[in-house]
Amino acid sequence: MRILLLPWLFLISLLANFLGITMILVSGQCQNDQQSMLLQMKNSLVFDSSFSVHLVQWNQSTDCCTWSGVDCDVDGHVIGINLSFESISGGLENATGLFGLQYLQSLNLAYNSLNAAQIPSRFANLTNLTHLNLSTAGFVGQIPIAISGMTSGIKAWIAVLGVV
Ligand SMILES: *[C@@H]1O[C@H](CO)[C@@H](O)[C@H](O)[C@H]1NC(C)=O
Ligand SMILES: *[C@@H]1O[C@H](CO)[C@@H](O)[C@H](O)[C@H]1NC(C)=O
Ligand SMILES: *[C@@H]1O[C@H](CO)[C@@H](O)[C@H](O)[C@H]1NC(C)=O
Ligand SMILES: *[C@@H]1O[C@H](CO)[C@@H](O)[C@H](O)[C@H]1NC(C)=O
Ligand SMILES: *[C@@H]1O[C@H](CO)[C@@H](O)[C@H](O)[C@H]1NC(C)=O
Ligand SMILES: *[C@@H]1O[C@H](CO)[C@@H](O)[C@H](O)[C@H]1NC(C)=O
Repeated sequence: MRILLLPWLFLISLLANFLGITMILVSGQCQNDQQSMLLQMKNSLVFDSSFSVHLVQWNQSTDCCTWSGVDCDVDGHVIGINLSFESISGGLENATGLFGLQYLQSLNLAYNSLNAAQIPSRFANLTNLTHLNLSTAGFVGQIPIAISGMTSGIKAWIAVLGVV
């Protein structure tokens, strides 16, 4: 009996090791707070789901770092969001989740219909944002005031894109 137990113990420890490794891999992916902020952002945006390619697929059943249009760093922080051509209308003022994504470096909102919306001054909170693509995003007015708190890098990018 004691002899038979050994292979079992070996198998169990092997299994525990495997599960342990799996858990480490999973926790290395999308951080929970990043996922919640992305979902808050999705839920606050007005977009046409029949034209959306990226946003429409974002949901809790998968890791946010695997979502289409989302890029993460190795620690599971969101560093890039591509929401170009997502038929987003309305504004960003309720997308509080977006302005909590502190690791964000690149945001692409090109080719949407954010009509009459202003760039919220809360963009200044995203201190690591260096690429903001607002090409034909529909923003009008008050941009220079809103970006006055931003880094010189991002101002340069907006200028390159012809918004200001
Ligand atoms: C959830 O996301 C996955 C992958 O992005 C997608 O295949 C699936 O259809 C989505 N589910 C719903 C209910 O949208
Ligand atoms: C962003 O998404 C658009 C629309 O899905 C796609 O055409 C474009 O290539 C993407 N850009 C990058 C850098 O992945
Ligand atoms: C933001 O939220 C307020 C209050 O719920 C609502 O009246 C407004 O239409 C929302 N704006 C957008 C662009 O969804
Ligand atoms: C702005 O950034 C700080 C951390 O630097 C964060 O605590 C705060 O929630 C952010 N503000 C918004 C509106 O997301
Ligand atoms: C911002 O970028 C710097 C340099 O890459 C990095 O050290 C820092 O952790 C980043 N901060 C956030 C909140 O992502
Ligand atoms: C802005 O985004 C659009 C659509 O994804 C892309 O075609 C264009 O090259 C981007 N511009 C820059 C300067 O990255």
